[in-house]
Amino acid sequence: MKGIVLAGGRGTRMYPSTLAMSKQLLTVYNKPMVYHPLSVLMLAGIREILVISAPESIPALRMLLGDGSHLGLDITYAVQEEPRGIAEALIIGADHIGDDPVALVLGDNVFHGAGFPRLLRSARDQLDGCTLFGYPVSDPERYGIGETDAEGNLVSLEEKPVEPRSDNAITGLYYYEPDVVEIARDLTPSERGELEITHVNQIYLKQGRARLIRLGRGYTWLDAGTHDSLLAASQYVHVIEKRQGVRVACVEEIALRMGYIDADHCHSLGTRMGNSDYGQYLIQVAQSVA
Ligand code: DAU
Repeated sequence: MKGIVLAGGRGTRMYPSTLAMSKQLLTVYNKPMVYHPLSVLMLAGIREILVISAPESIPALRMLLGDGSHLGLDITYAVQEEPRGIAEALIIGADHIGDDPVALVLGDNVFHGAGFPRLLRSARDQLDGCTLFGYPVSDPERYGIGETDAEGNLVSLEEKPVEPRSDNAITGLYYYEPDVVEIARDLTPSERGELEITHVNQIYLKQGRARLIRLGRGYTWLDAGTHDSLLAASQYVHVIEKRQGVRVACVEEIALRMGYIDADHCHSLGTRMGNSDYGQYLIQVAQSVA
């Protein structure tokens, strides 16, 4: 399975913080936001990852993530000239996807919860069409919404409905079979001028090939795309990290625990940042598994 992180958009909702910097590089407590979606793909066992962003943001993202080899990954980059919709990522990423299934994750989404890596991998193994991940929210009118029947089967999908039929938000993580590229290419822009990811998902639903996995209360899903939600995500990560003494979305640790890099390499990554708590943590993690 291939991975795509969509880290574009203009970040206008977060001006002036995003006038000179991509939103996905703002920090969620102590590390760049983009570490969160990247972690999701890594935990799903995906190592070939395309990062799509606005032209002016690519250099900084590349400075941060490089070619991914330090994490045992293969990271490449592509430009989205204008925010023409989330589904455009599947067209821009067509060559990267090729004949493989793909996981698309939005650059401002934060996921956390026990058992999440296992769930990500089993969903990947059972993919047939598209798999969506739902999460109960108190403000469903802000999201793509999935309605299910009594058996939990998806029966309708709507983007930001004025009168939501359910509180089940569709999170910014989507698994697709490779035919998604053709589906995305056939889309026409919505009234707001975007290629809508919800339209892609509605096509799979119509074909009887859309599955919804509900992330229950034991999980946390946040989108960090506004000042308030970024603060909430930062506070969440802060509380968990301080209480448990572990790091959330620490990509080097994930690379080590997934077997993408060895302990010596993790140690050297820590040494490079040795002046920081983060670097010290990496050294400690490397020593604990060596
Ligand atoms: O976060 C989950 C929600 O994401 C879903 O429930 C919705 O169905 C989906 O449409 C999307 O809603 P948003 O209102 O959050 O979409 P937004 O336009 O804010 O874009 C989400 C992220 O994707 C944001 O970080 C910017 C990035 N983006 C967006 C567009 C439209 C791009 O990189 N390029 C784009 O063209």
